[in-house]
Amino acid sequence: MDIIICPTSADAEKLTARMIADAINAKPEFRLGLATGATMENVYAELTALYKAGKVDFSQVRSWNLDEYVGLPPEHDQSYRYFMNTRLFNNINIDIRNTHVPNGLADDEEAEAARYDEEIEDAGGIDLWLVGIGKTGHIAFNDPGTSFNSRTHVAYLSNETYEQNKNYFNPPESMPRRAFTAGVGTIMESRKILQLITGERKADIAAAAIEGPMTAMISSSALQLHPDAVIILDEAAASKLKLRDFYKEIFANDPKWAAYR
Ligand code: F6R
Repeated sequence: MDIIICPTSADAEKLTARMIADAINAKPEFRLGLATGATMENVYAELTALYKAGKVDFSQVRSWNLDEYVGLPPEHDQSYRYFMNTRLFNNINIDIRNTHVPNGLADDEEAEAARYDEEIEDAGGIDLWLVGIGKTGHIAFNDPGTSFNSRTHVAYLSNETYEQNKNYFNPPESMPRRAFTAGVGTIMESRKILQLITGERKADIAAAAIEGPMTAMISSSALQLHPDAVIILDEAAASKLKLRDFYKEIFANDPKWAAYR
């Protein structure tokens, strides 16, 4: 794992967007994995700004999102399809037909989950998957106890995840308790994983996921096994990392990061 600690959340968001844009520029027919959530809002604003400045072209990019609430139609303002359309897809030159989010209204949930994994596989796999981390240590909606080998499935959300997200809904109790989620195994097959963690409220779980033992109780800890996982944090989220000075030293001195310093 490569750990990069940025002074502020704005620096971390900008760096994340730049790395994604650089990866797309190096391979225009990019297969991009995406996430939603508060952490990603400024990343998508930044990617939009890079696109408007002519610094990245999404015309050949295909995307797959991590998750979608069961029962929410695409036009619901809390659906992840709506989040992606309004925060990113409508503002850049991606072909909307090349953007994929699980269908929250699918009648046959198992078939929809299997179809999603097959679609990714048929496309040749994901080149880079952008992920966040939840308070439970989840990546996507893989709450504690989810197997590292899990495939896309419908998950029943933990109380903590429900509490984390319900206030976005009006009324809060209308938040669906189940969601389609890419499995830990699905995400781990991505050639690269880029995780963004910001804010003091994520400091404890970031330390547990990055420096603690690997455990299905913290699905993000699976990233320790990934051959190319880059984790970008701001100072607040990195404040409980034991080796934070060492990570900073690597970023400051290793030639492989020269372009990003
Ligand atoms: C979102 C997702 C989640 C979020 C996580 C953090 O698609 O899969 O795992 O990344 O819950 O959410 P925020 O950024 O709102 O703290």
